[in-house]
Amino acid sequence: MRVAILTLSDKGSRGERQDASGPALAAWLTEQGCSVVATAILPDEQREIAAMLADWADRDRADLILTTGGTGVSPRDITPEATAAVVERVIPGIGELMRLRSLEVTKTAMLSRAMAGIRRQSLIINLPGSPKGAVECLEAVWQLIPHAVEKIR
Ligand code: MTE
Repeated sequence: MRVAILTLSDKGSRGERQDASGPALAAWLTEQGCSVVATAILPDEQREIAAMLADWADRDRADLILTTGGTGVSPRDITPEATAAVVERVIPGIGELMRLRSLEVTKTAMLSRAMAGIRRQSLIINLPGSPKGAVECLEAVWQLIPHAVEKIR
């Protein structure tokens, strides 16, 4: 499976903070036998995020596109809106299962507005911004991701 990872962080994009969640996801995915084919860090700007997601999906760069960060309720958190702007079909169950499992770990999981959907032949999934949260959420839904990717193509 070809996977692209987009980190959303104002500070990370300015080089003021080291991105830990992108590498944590890449390491976990590599352990599962996936190829990480693209990574990028962008500020929390809806248009830039939507443009990169659409570009990766439209040029068939990845079967699975993961975002990390920007799913919460701070004024700058805009990842779900950017994702909603580019997906053609929404898969509510992925966000629902991530929140259900995450609530067993932390009450703040309720505040993640992460969503998932399909654009062309790419499955796009939002994950929270902490390295621990991002990997936990991906693990929570991983059981059906290879099957979903196969059905989409
Ligand atoms: N989900 C899991 N499994 N583990 C976590 O540590 N962190 C939460 C939540 N979901 C977390 C989690 C926190 S603290 C927030 S604020 C929201 O995700 C949104 O995070 P984001 O704004 O960085 O995307």
